[in-house]
Amino acid sequence: ARMGRLICISNRIPSGPNPSGGLVVALHDTIKETGGIWIGTSGEIVDTPDNTLHEITDGPFRRMAFDLTEAEQENYYFGFSNQVLWPLFHGRTDLLEIHAEYLDSYKEVNRRFAKMLIEVIEPEDRIWVHDYHLIPLALYLRQLGAKNRMGFFLHTPFPNPITLHALPNAEDVCEWLANYEVVGMQSERDARAAIACLTEIAGAQELAGGFVQLGERQCRVAAFPIAIDAQEFRHLAEEQIDRLPAGVIKPDRQLIIGVDRLDYTKGVPQRFKAFGEFLSRHEEWHRHVSLIQISPPTREGVEAYDNIREETEHLSGQVNGQFADIQWAPIRFINRPVPRETLAGLYRAAQIALVTPLMDGMNLVAKEFVAAQNPEDPGVLILSQFAGAAEQMDDALIVNPHDIEQMATAIMTALAMPLQDRRRRHEALMDVLLTKDVSWWSKGFLTALG
Ligand code: G6P
Repeated sequence: ARMGRLICISNRIPSGPNPSGGLVVALHDTIKETGGIWIGTSGEIVDTPDNTLHEITDGPFRRMAFDLTEAEQENYYFGFSNQVLWPLFHGRTDLLEIHAEYLDSYKEVNRRFAKMLIEVIEPEDRIWVHDYHLIPLALYLRQLGAKNRMGFFLHTPFPNPITLHALPNAEDVCEWLANYEVVGMQSERDARAAIACLTEIAGAQELAGGFVQLGERQCRVAAFPIAIDAQEFRHLAEEQIDRLPAGVIKPDRQLIIGVDRLDYTKGVPQRFKAFGEFLSRHEEWHRHVSLIQISPPTREGVEAYDNIREETEHLSGQVNGQFADIQWAPIRFINRPVPRETLAGLYRAAQIALVTPLMDGMNLVAKEFVAAQNPEDPGVLILSQFAGAAEQMDDALIVNPHDIEQMATAIMTALAMPLQDRRRRHEALMDVLLTKDVSWWSKGFLTALG
């Protein structure tokens, strides 16, 4: 029998003729080999929806997309996806914006998408849906008669039952999930939370081997920690460190790096406070260490994002105002995207990475930083216990991002860490990254999907 196509579905489709990023590269081959398609929203806003998927040309594999209306963008994307599900899944119930039109639009866009997809999919296709924007797709496709194998992978954390209960339709989310054959989570923590929600909120029955039965539907919930192509990233970093502009690397100055979308889940205010605390404890380090924090803005116009921007601008200004002198400013806070190549070089040039989210599905900056290091003289990763990556990367310096004093101490520990200790930790971390790379991740999920 002919192997079914792999249909990947996500809110954003991979861009351009040369999409970068591990996920797309990892799925690229399977999509191509099976004659598959990547389908999502186009990024274009239209007045009247035309309800057909159009081909996007120029990519390395086939892509199709549909346009959102202004109202859908407002309610489905900014509304339910990013002011309900995003904060909820990251444990920020204080930021929830519950409005009926957000939920209605979320369901409506997912229904509309399902109707367009049913015209395109064939019975043998395997469907792989990515992320929180599109959780109900399987249910709506099934209502239209689709019998395909369908898998869902959540790139964010999944909350425990008490948190999910803050959503008025918490039970629906469980039902949506149960319509997939495979529900993939980033970590064991999230897989356990999802099973707890399915059983406690929706009354599902937990079976052996991660299987859960809800009514007629049976799905398997498991952890598939996403990863990177560590070899490729190491090579990129080796090549790019020599192309960094002059002055980035200074012989008498250690470099600490942080890279995150400007999001309230990333713990950047706590990070700036910890660096300030470190500087107030260690005058001998003044002028000899600086922090580059790269935070491109995202989801602008949403109040919580405008607030985090103000808060971080204020704190970086405060630390700089307090400690800078005429030759040195401790923090360089950059609110613009930086090319992937430059980041790779910067990671390799840095002695420390601060990856300290308050909550995170995985966090690939942690993995990229480690992959970028020179194994002879590697830098130190300071990693939040709340990043999914911490389950696999316990040879990093693990910190609690709420504990500013502990993070300040960790910075000192990292700066003073003997070479032997740095090498041992790096080797252990690199071992994980090379064996559990992104093709291990995609194969694992696709094998489970069958
Ligand atoms: C997270 C989500 C992705 C999302 C990305 C950027 O990583 O898991 O699904 O695409 O953030 O956010 P944006 O809202 O700009 O797509």
